[in-house]
Amino acid sequence: MIEQHLFLRTLAGEQTERPPVWFMRQAGRYLPDYMKLKEKYSFFERVQNPDLAREITVMPVDQIGVDAAILFSDILVIAQSLGLKVDMVQGRGPVLETARTQAEVDRLSVEATQDFFKYANPAIKAVKEGLDNRVPLIGFAGSPWTLLCYIVQGQGSKDFGEAKKFIINEPLRAKLLLEKITEATIEYLNIQVDAGCDALQIFDSWGGMLSPEMYSEFSLPYLQRIMAATRERVPIILFAKGAWYALKELQETGAAALGLSWTTPASFARKICGPETVLQGNLDPSILLAKPAAVKIATTKMIDQFGRGKHIVNLGHGVLPQTSVDSARAFVDAAKSYRY
Ligand code: CP3
Repeated sequence: MIEQHLFLRTLAGEQTERPPVWFMRQAGRYLPDYMKLKEKYSFFERVQNPDLAREITVMPVDQIGVDAAILFSDILVIAQSLGLKVDMVQGRGPVLETARTQAEVDRLSVEATQDFFKYANPAIKAVKEGLDNRVPLIGFAGSPWTLLCYIVQGQGSKDFGEAKKFIINEPLRAKLLLEKITEATIEYLNIQVDAGCDALQIFDSWGGMLSPEMYSEFSLPYLQRIMAATRERVPIILFAKGAWYALKELQETGAAALGLSWTTPASFARKICGPETVLQGNLDPSILLAKPAAVKIATTKMIDQFGRGKHIVNLGHGVLPQTSVDSARAFVDAAKSYRY
């Protein structure tokens, strides 16, 4: 029974025999079979076609042995649902139509969300069928602030300077944009839960780019609204990369677990959040570039640091594309052979 699954039992706060394991970006770029599908189908075809979404989402369960699957999709589907064009450009990453002027932000429509996400229900149903109750399915979305970064910048960036300039110069317009993203996100998360997702993760990947003051103005309030609207339905993991200063506030949103980046020590998070909070993380993804034997040692040491239980093994951010399948397996095997 899926209710009895290790990952969901851990999220519910139960003491388990070992920590469950999955990792961010597990369905994708480092898997040779995924790269073959990538040659044949465009990114959003892979997201929207039920057979492809099923094949890709299930791949790391079959090939690596993770304890949870994460739906194959992208955080940028929210930008698409608001009417902005998104392209995944080989070698460059996502390129988006931007919304910066008042007219551009006004034009973004939340009304079309339901219609845009028509593909999601059949895709998720197909994924659930493919998983056949072996492991639970995690649905996900980006945080409103992280989405704003892409919608204003128009592409990835080391510092998201345009996005930060935007919230400083045009705070009211930024808040209108964040409101619209928040509404669309709540609708999309509900669609994912309706279709059968067992848990959700919110990625605030660029949260740590903000000062604590700016975080409490431009990221936290929108996360709080998303959490209030969805946390009664399924357990939610909040991953705010680098926003160690906001851990207490993030815990108070009612998250079932908090994701940690590798620069946040487990002992620090335990001190802030207490021994009962479920924490997820946080091996430096570059450690998976090492040989399997070294990965296993480092992973076991990382698990030790979280103490006995209330821990989901994961990386501190997404798996790197150069990672070998054997090293990814060594990471998962280290968690699966661990005993409290
Ligand atoms: O396995 C999984 O994690 C499920 C699928 C998934 C993708 N993107 C697929 C994808 C998930 C959970 C995401 C989340 C995502 N997307 C985040 C948050 C997590 C994080 O890493 O911080 C962010 C910031 C994005 C935005 C995004 N999408 C970028 C920056 C890129 C290009 C560079 C990269 O990371 O690969 C994408 C494209 C993308 N999304 C790819 C995949 C597998 C690569 C393109 C491709 O394979 O065609």
